[in-house]
Amino acid sequence: MRIDIITLFPEMFEGPFSHSIVKRAIEKGLAEIHLHQLRDYSTDKHKRVDDYAFSGGAGMVMMIEPVARCIAALKAERGYDAVIYTSPDGQLLDQPLANRLSGFNNLILLCGHYKGVDERIREHLVTMEISIGNYVLSGGELAAAVISDSIIRLIPGVLTDESSALSDSFQNNLVSPPVYTRPRDFNGWVVPEILLSGNERIIEEWKYNQSVERTKIRRPELLND
Ligand code: ADE
Repeated sequence: MRIDIITLFPEMFEGPFSHSIVKRAIEKGLAEIHLHQLRDYSTDKHKRVDDYAFSGGAGMVMMIEPVARCIAALKAERGYDAVIYTSPDGQLLDQPLANRLSGFNNLILLCGHYKGVDERIREHLVTMEISIGNYVLSGGELAAAVISDSIIRLIPGVLTDESSALSDSFQNNLVSPPVYTRPRDFNGWVVPEILLSGNERIIEEWKYNQSVERTKIRRPELLND
């Protein structure tokens, strides 16, 4: 999978993409991430990418020209399955959406800034809009990093134990069961005896029941889906 991210702040991605699972996916050649500085596509001598809103009012608006030029340059090289704009009023990212996106080959992620982007970008250039939650971030970069991470870990071969993505919370509309490691007893706080029994079938049943009980208490709305 190839993800092209169009951003005013490419440096913001250095952290999220250079550690752990995403880093490994890139090293294994299972994921490619390409960062594009939007200013490089401005024809303005000051490399401006924003302007005042026609209606007046507070806040600058991202201009269509640099975005259109950047997307056109990418599309001239290869086809894209989706051009995604990160926006608080987009479709809410959830596990089924991450699963669907992980099946795509080439994605463009456009990070918004300022008061938003010229509406014509959303009408004519973007094919999907995704929000990572009902709150407003300072820009789309953190959302793009979250979306990328949620997709990349699902690409076959990225996780060493194939089943571990399948047993993630939400994959079956249930949250994960509790997990424990050594010591068995910490100051009298003990690990549930059943997990030490060695009986695989009973342990699996216990985990499933824990998942169901936890989901009822913590995220009951998942059971209604
Ligand atoms: N940009 C600003 N806030 C956002 C959010 N919640 N999700 C996606 N993009 C955003």
